[in-house]
Amino acid sequence: MSLERTLTVRVKRISRETPEILAFELAHPWGRALPGYEAGAHIDVHMPGGFSRQYSLARAPSNAPSYVIGVKRELASRGGSASMHERVREGDLIAISTPRNTFPLRAEAAHHLLMAGGIGMTPLLAMAQALAARGASFTLCVFARGEEHLAFSNALRDPALAPHLRLHLDQGDASQRIDLQALLADRAPDTHLYVCGPGGFMKAVRDAAAKTDWPDDALHTEYFAAPTDANTSTGLPFTLRLAQRGITVPVAADQTAVDALHEVGIDIPVSCQQGLCGTCVVEGDGEGAEHRDFCLTGTERRSKVALCCSRAKGLELVLQL
Ligand code: FES
Repeated sequence: MSLERTLTVRVKRISRETPEILAFELAHPWGRALPGYEAGAHIDVHMPGGFSRQYSLARAPSNAPSYVIGVKRELASRGGSASMHERVREGDLIAISTPRNTFPLRAEAAHHLLMAGGIGMTPLLAMAQALAARGASFTLCVFARGEEHLAFSNALRDPALAPHLRLHLDQGDASQRIDLQALLADRAPDTHLYVCGPGGFMKAVRDAAAKTDWPDDALHTEYFAAPTDANTSTGLPFTLRLAQRGITVPVAADQTAVDALHEVGIDIPVSCQQGLCGTCVVEGDGEGAEHRDFCLTGTERRSKVALCCSRAKGLELVLQL
């Protein structure tokens, strides 16, 4: 049901970053420019076998005549990452969406603290490159199991990033260890925290942020998959009140708001359908919503709702549609 624009791109280069991660460079088939984007953006990749997955763009826009994504082969792959690793070859044409950004750098930040776990480095590397290019204040903390699991290590060796980089390798020197709670407690005013990585890493950083009273509006996360403790219960039926159209739409207990709107001819763009990507977010009475997404900040939740997963707290939810 997605209304995203689809592009065909050629796989220009595939390079091995780690035993589990391949980098794919994607270019226009006839050498034309690809649509621009901002650091933190991602694309949907439509893969052989009918799979579609979201991947962050791993390079700052100013350096980007092409797109670069990193794909980690997941042991529990439902087919997406395995398909990319096994079936896609250099020279192949593949379909992708135009980039969209639900994980942007915040202009109001005086300092940016970027926390990357494993393959979560991809959007944060693009952010670090963009911040370095504009001379902004930032720290990039990269967590990996060991040197051989460090993706995009060549880009990290860029002298422009070196003064900002803190590397933590699980199998590395004890002096490199980063005490998350101490790091987050010792923050300059107006520091914004951006986190991307596997579920366990996200939870560890979020727990440390909670223990240090990190302001919710200055904490930005990008999940690859919904946390295992996510609320996926069906909930109760409710009604959507569409303020601009002046109509109501019933949502059954076993139905999402997106599906209910589709039934009355209103198509909301969707992509992940897990509350991760922000594609389905619309303006509305966020205070009246039971938010089940992982992409909106506390402030955004007051006036926005992710319709692929969130429901009404009560009997009715008002949307600006
Ligand atoms: S479709 Fe991705 S958050 Fe709803």
